[in-house]
Amino acid sequence: MTKLTQLTTWKALEKHYQQIKEEHIQDLFQKDSERFKDFSLQLDDLLFDFSKNLVTQETMKLLFQLAEDRELTEKIKQLFAGEKLNNTENRAVLHTALRQTQKENILPEVQATKEKMKNFVEKVRQQKWLGVTGKAIRDIVNIGIGGSDLGPRMATHALSAYATHELNYYFISDIDKSELESLFQKIDPERTLVIVSSKTFTTTETLLNASTLKSWLTKKLKTDQLTQHMIAVTANHERAKQFGVASENIFPFWEWVGGRYSVWSAIGLPIALMIGMEHFNDFLKGAFSVDQHFQTKPFSENIPVIMALLGVWQINFFGTHAHAILPYSFQLKYFRDYIQQLDMESNGKSVTRSGESVDYATGPIIIGEQGCDSQHSFFQLLHQGQQMISADFILVAKNQDKTHQDVLIASALSQAKAFMQGTTANNIDAHKILIGNKSSNVIFLAELTPYSLGQLIALYEHKIFVQGIIWDINSFDQWGVELGKQILPKVLEAMHHPDKNVQLDASTLGLLDYYRGHE
Ligand code: F6P
Repeated sequence: MTKLTQLTTWKALEKHYQQIKEEHIQDLFQKDSERFKDFSLQLDDLLFDFSKNLVTQETMKLLFQLAEDRELTEKIKQLFAGEKLNNTENRAVLHTALRQTQKENILPEVQATKEKMKNFVEKVRQQKWLGVTGKAIRDIVNIGIGGSDLGPRMATHALSAYATHELNYYFISDIDKSELESLFQKIDPERTLVIVSSKTFTTTETLLNASTLKSWLTKKLKTDQLTQHMIAVTANHERAKQFGVASENIFPFWEWVGGRYSVWSAIGLPIALMIGMEHFNDFLKGAFSVDQHFQTKPFSENIPVIMALLGVWQINFFGTHAHAILPYSFQLKYFRDYIQQLDMESNGKSVTRSGESVDYATGPIIIGEQGCDSQHSFFQLLHQGQQMISADFILVAKNQDKTHQDVLIASALSQAKAFMQGTTANNIDAHKILIGNKSSNVIFLAELTPYSLGQLIALYEHKIFVQGIIWDINSFDQWGVELGKQILPKVLEAMHHPDKNVQLDASTLGLLDYYRGHE
């Protein structure tokens, strides 16, 4: 494959960048009264406005050509056909198969697991799933980390308006015991159901937390018969069984579902428990609608393709290192955390698919927070700092209270305008100058529903996929996280056996000494 930066189109983009970089986005609106119409797209009720980016029709033409040069259409086909695009792990990437709604295309194992989920969800929600003392389940605790935590955590919060009030939800991921201690104060062991969520069932944090909860339940319930209290979601049935989860309580998913793409699988069980299986299916349908859009629309009308190309334009030509995810919605409070893993674990790579070093940046640093909170904390640097930062403003039109909602929406639009416009007045104090000309997108949802949340997530998934294709990297492995995991046992060994002379650097040994002196 031709090196990205050697492509004729890339060189044309470099030249075009030199011509356009001094332009001001605001002037582009002056020149083209149709700009909003020409640079925004709709998918169902969802509106994607990218008119406040420093791009012209010429930029978009070149970016679409770049996607052609990278054979994106063919790559999209390969993704959906289940080709082994995760080449370093020799795996297909088929999370899209989990939201397939066309009956003839649904894989039998996916259908069977959905049936299993449905039965289980109904039992729990109808209070027919009883604990060992005969009481119905009330407290659901999800133990998992990364992709086995962030999706359900984000979505249960986002969709709380659809939640049953009969169940309480708790998510435990990190291993600071204080969190578990505080959980123990809130949950009733007789009415607790623990979901141990782990694709590999080898993750240190998850296994330690699950063991601690298991011991706590055993002690409190005075029995080790925890069949009704502990279930598992995993691609490693054997390990879950060894851990003590009854076979019939293990919900499978498969190697071809990446952890950070697994919210559509049984990893979404906490969501299904909370909103019911019918709404969970709507969530899948929303994602499916984006899959269809992604596969059928020409690049010029394809929202995830455009999101991706704008990102490449920002990162590789403007040198933009960070991208802010700014949901102006309390319900989407955890959306940044979710996208942070999805994007940074997927595209934070330094070699091409065939292992050659890349000489261009891949993947943005994802920052962000709920809208108005961000304005009053880190927006200062976005407006006046020297680093280039791009942003997605995520808005929801329909909300409960118009008084608050009007100010919320107006705040988002004001900030996006300020990013673009900067300070226009002459003779202004230098400290008050904002250069402006910062690019941003607005994603406007008509309403936050299971369907629209499914759409929103799938847009980002495909955006990340397209960027991986442009950069010629494998977006589906995560070897970077392995080294730290391998060092951990050595550090623990040195911590517990200082006499053993474990080979570690002086800093780590010094810090261990300090810890031993203060624990
Ligand atoms: O260490 C990173 C990672 O492997 C993520 O990719 C994954 O989502 C997370 O850990 C949890 O892994 P598991 O689901 O196997 O416990």
